[in-house]
Amino acid sequence: MSADDTAPRTAEIADPPHFFRCHVFVCTNERPAGHPRGCCKHKGSERLRDYMKARAKELGLKGVRINTAGCLDRCELGPTMVIYPEGVWYSPKTTADIDLILERHVRDGGRVGALMLRPGDDPPKAGKG
Ligand code: FES
Repeated sequence: MSADDTAPRTAEIADPPHFFRCHVFVCTNERPAGHPRGCCKHKGSERLRDYMKARAKELGLKGVRINTAGCLDRCELGPTMVIYPEGVWYSPKTTADIDLILERHVRDGGRVGALMLRPGDDPPKAGKG
């Protein structure tokens, strides 16, 4: 019997509790000017991320982490962010959008439907890279 034979199967192992109640990933990837897919950095994502971090602190949100992310592969729809554990995507354009996402989704557990991205929103990836 090898060591693997005694290891518990995945289904028998309980997942640990989430380390963060809410984990937000904000794409700040930059591509060269004129790239066919564009990039979130050129659409103001760093400013929105900075605002979101500061505003989350001001609101006193607990168990929340706002992280910088590399390309999330939905560049044409940027600026993009995704919130876990729900896996809900948003494309905020303004700090007012960030306020809505923080207050309605992150704080209250609701959704901001007008800013939400859905799988069918993505264009074909002709110039991916
Ligand atoms: S550059 Fe932001 S999703 Fe690709």
